[in-house]
Amino acid sequence: MSEKKSRILVVDDAVDILEVIKMRLELLGYHVDAVSDPLEALEKFEDGERYDLLLTDQKMDGLTGTELMEKCREIDNTLQTIIFTAFGTIEQAVEAVKKGAYSYVSKPIDHNDLSVKIAQAIEKRSLLNRMYHLEKIIGNQFRFVNMIGNSPAMQKVFSKIAQVATTESTIAIYGESGTGKELAARAIHLHSNRADAPFIATNCAAIPETLLEDELFGHIKGSFTGASGAKEGLFRTANRGTLFLDEVGEMSEAMQAKLLRVIETGEIKPIGSDKVIKVDVRLIVATKRNLKELVEKNKFREDLYYRIHVIPVYLPPLRERKEDIIPLFQHFMKKYSGRAGKKIVRVEQAVVERLMNYNWPGNVRELENMVEYLVAMCQDEVITEDLLPETTRDPAAFSQTTLSMPLRPLREVRDEFTKEYLINLFRHTKGNVSQAAQIAGYYRADFYKLFQKYDLDPKTFKIPPGTKKTQKAGQDLEL
Ligand SMILES: Nc1ncnc2c1ncn2[C@@H]1O[C@H](COP(=O)(O)OP(=O)(O)OP(=O)(O)O)[C@@H](O)[C@H]1O
Ligand SMILES: [Mg+2]
Repeated sequence: MSEKKSRILVVDDAVDILEVIKMRLELLGYHVDAVSDPLEALEKFEDGERYDLLLTDQKMDGLTGTELMEKCREIDNTLQTIIFTAFGTIEQAVEAVKKGAYSYVSKPIDHNDLSVKIAQAIEKRSLLNRMYHLEKIIGNQFRFVNMIGNSPAMQKVFSKIAQVATTESTIAIYGESGTGKELAARAIHLHSNRADAPFIATNCAAIPETLLEDELFGHIKGSFTGASGAKEGLFRTANRGTLFLDEVGEMSEAMQAKLLRVIETGEIKPIGSDKVIKVDVRLIVATKRNLKELVEKNKFREDLYYRIHVIPVYLPPLRERKEDIIPLFQHFMKKYSGRAGKKIVRVEQAVVERLMNYNWPGNVRELENMVEYLVAMCQDEVITEDLLPETTRDPAAFSQTTLSMPLRPLREVRDEFTKEYLINLFRHTKGNVSQAAQIAGYYRADFYKLFQKYDLDPKTFKIPPGTKKTQKAGQDLEL
């Protein structure tokens, strides 16, 4: 999408002045709303409308400009304000600046002076917002920028993220549990034109159906027993930013219908309200389920599926990108040993082998949890094999996904089995195709067709170069 217009709200009970200002500012390329009643202006903010700048007359019925500014800043604390003052009321204007207004302009308005001040105030707003969000990122220990992935599969994901981030399209992220779906969603937001605005995440499966509507759309005061105040709802909190809906496949039919409406109209209706509110939100959804399959089984609305499956991003399971294991391990080691104030310098070769041979059903999250555990357990400077949890030795973990499934079509299960078999085989031959073909009892050419059908790349099963570099030949991994 092209760069967004800055939004200005003009408030003056002199309607003729209002019209002139609106017209001039629109000619300068701003999005301008104009109202003659300060209470109506406040209502806009309360309804979730957001502006970069409030231009308001000081002397009005209902609320003074300064009072309006203070109330609006309670809702949006980086909002900038310029106050118009009539001749002889400069003192009030100075007072307004002390209370947080960016500046004031005296009437009759000098439009050149006004347009310079507007540009500066908007610049300040944008800087403040950027700073505010950077602080949030830093507070979150750079979680978003720290997305590790050397494997070709992850490199593909990164370049897709970079390509699609600046579009306004809905993105559907698919991947098993713990593969980094939320992290990818944050990365998309950070690379988008919305990076200055909020990124709001929620998990649809974790919230009971009745509460999910309230969570997403909010309610008005008194809309149900116990609703003593109004609630904004996440769509409004995320206004002009990104809303990430995790586990979207778990939404009830009723909620699916409501989500579809928002996507189609760009409007929400808080519970108990008969007023619709425009929202400007970029949607990213994620699921570990196969949505297409859910559609076929009539468990997910087809129309909604096509609305959200606009740009799919697939996060591969960790067992299919083994060369990411060691870099991720090192990354988490640094994070957790730093946090615990421990100096860990080396990892035994046997540990590296176990990590590389393990199936990682819980993907990156499981690896991260294991590192946290290892750091806690490690008593000196070396991670030794005896510290590893027994589960990493468990070959059964490998076939768990296939065996624990209820009865399903043979073709589906056979495909899954074949893929796991091939992964296991490549792991055994360390990516050697001839040897693998021989063991599988295939001619080399046929064997190529077979593993390509499953999107497997034998190269990814070779000992990763990152490991070699940091490892003494056939020895321990230096950290
Ligand atoms: N590529 C990566 N680089 C660094 N850390 C990662 C990466 N992928 C995932 N993580 C970390 O692993 C953990 C799990 O990731 P995340 O929550 O994004 O996964 P998820 O796919 O949303 O999981 P779930 O399906 O359970 O919601 C997080 O702590 C995240 O920071
Ligand atoms: Mg998640």
